[in-house]
Amino acid sequence: MCGIVAYVGHRQAYPVILKGLKRLEYRGYDSAGIALLSDGLKLFKKKGKVAGLEDSLVGENVQGHIGIGHTRWATHGEPSDRNAHPHRSASGKLAMIHNGIIENYGQLKQELLNKGYSFTSDTDTEVLLHFIDDIRENNKCSLEEAIRIALKRVVGAYVIVIVDTESPDTLIAARKGSPLVIGIGKGEHFLASDASPIIEYTKEVVYVNDYELAIIRPDELILKNLGNETLTPFVQKLDLELAAIEKGGYEHFMLKEIFEQPHTIYDCLRGRLELSESKIIMSGVEQHLEQLKNAKRIIMVACGTSWHAGLVAEYIFEELCRVPVEVEYASEFRYRNPIVGPGDVIIAISQSGETADTLVAIEKAKEQGALIFGVLNVVGSSIARISHGGAYTHAGPEIGVASTKAFTAQLAVLTMIALKLGREKGTIDNDRYQRLLTELSLIPEKVQTVLEQAENINSLARKYAQATDFLFLGRGYNFPVALEGALKLKEISYIHAEGYPAAEMKHGPIALVDDTLPVVFVATKDPYHEKIVSNIQEIKARKGKVIAVISEGDETIPQMADDVMYVPACDEILAPMLNVIPLQLLSYYTGVHKGLDVDKPRNLAKSVTVE
Ligand code: AGP
Ligand code: GLU
Repeated sequence: MCGIVAYVGHRQAYPVILKGLKRLEYRGYDSAGIALLSDGLKLFKKKGKVAGLEDSLVGENVQGHIGIGHTRWATHGEPSDRNAHPHRSASGKLAMIHNGIIENYGQLKQELLNKGYSFTSDTDTEVLLHFIDDIRENNKCSLEEAIRIALKRVVGAYVIVIVDTESPDTLIAARKGSPLVIGIGKGEHFLASDASPIIEYTKEVVYVNDYELAIIRPDELILKNLGNETLTPFVQKLDLELAAIEKGGYEHFMLKEIFEQPHTIYDCLRGRLELSESKIIMSGVEQHLEQLKNAKRIIMVACGTSWHAGLVAEYIFEELCRVPVEVEYASEFRYRNPIVGPGDVIIAISQSGETADTLVAIEKAKEQGALIFGVLNVVGSSIARISHGGAYTHAGPEIGVASTKAFTAQLAVLTMIALKLGREKGTIDNDRYQRLLTELSLIPEKVQTVLEQAENINSLARKYAQATDFLFLGRGYNFPVALEGALKLKEISYIHAEGYPAAEMKHGPIALVDDTLPVVFVATKDPYHEKIVSNIQEIKARKGKVIAVISEGDETIPQMADDVMYVPACDEILAPMLNVIPLQLLSYYTGVHKGLDVDKPRNLAKSVTVE
């Protein structure tokens, strides 16, 4: 996820692009860059935020009526000046910006290296640019044709925008899987990842579709498909205000990010889950495969929601890889003088990659000889830099303080690591392995099915918003989901909530139950289903209010519960990715009904970089 802006027309391009990039920093802020075409190709780029780039350009010649700009969210190559976009072709004639992931960039890069190409960055983007340039040079064809040929070989997601010194009045853009909007002005055109950089200049826009290519000049917009057929642009009128656009039309970033999860989980699986070949491709795992296979013990180290992901992973790794797993709060682990050494694998789970307790905990474990493997969302973060290896969650920037899309992405990555490891160790039978791969590939669309219940959950949240306490209960894989649901409700609605293993009720917490206490059961179909039905009966017998997350088709629990939220059936190992969604929505809508700032809850920070 990143922000792209481009302009061609009668205005000076630089101020339009700069302002537009600032509006898109919610999509990524690792680095920023601008290329301008005027008296040749001028390219400026810098690690850090757009304001840093702006400061560095004071006094520079930033004249020009055509340009492209990018604010990056790194996926390949850590945040740095050299990895910042735009990238320049070997011929020096082209500059390109890119939003997305080129999955087969490794293969393309090897072909180009064999042809003698060298690279100035570690990005997948630069590979695509050299690939396009190479086709144009060798086929002696137009840039437009070279792009079409290249994109037919590309696997992955992209929006690309290219400027060419040989066509100084033309922008060429193409998209598949990432967003691209074109603003139609008088004698000018604007391109951006969303309409927020465009809306102050024009409300007439064209949303480019997948596999479409646009050739844009001040007075001309040509839209084609990759088969070189000209299309009629469908011009729409923007009806959103600026603030709403940044949130994708949602009221809050948290709701936007909850609804992004089908896409972010798909992005997480992209290029890794190869169903046709029944395999999981994860270079970070392959690089440390022997140590992972021979690990005496795996220790999950994290905080908060990421710790809950580690708890789910404990069940998954022990089930699929038959390796002992411990889950540690980083804040406790770091002070406890833990017994850690060579042969131990630490999996550090963190959205931000900057959580102080997690960082210090793994520094200590690293000193004692453990292998550090990061499951992180921010490329080049502090934890990424001290880890021996890892796998990124590719969830894009998570703006809401409450972690939602990062959590399900963590679960997807951890599941793939366990599947890969179990396969390598021979601890998963082939049928189960094949079935889990297939089921995992269906999770994004099943998440979409759950999201379609949002209004039902909104009503349910309104009904219980005045409660002062909640209990969340689950068994097995659903126990960490119960903990996560309790945390979400606490941090978003400020209602006290506790999560427990459902069977623990009789060891004390059941004393809390009366007719004012809502008890949320995560009770989807699994081997413990009969047991949790008994737990529900125990609560109902004491007049507790029961809200249950249940599997579609469950006819038992609806007869007992006061309210239910349905999720599609799936293997219990994958169920947490679905079962957490209703609880995310429950906490969000409860916070909204209470009139709270759900994106920035009181007392909380998005990343706890202090102890
Ligand atoms: C989760 O909603 C909270 N924002 C918090 O518990 C968070 O998960 C925790 O601070 C860990 O953050 P990290 O994943 O960035 O390390
Ligand atoms: N994959 C490209 C990179 O890592 C683009 C990432 C983005 O969309 O910002 O540079």
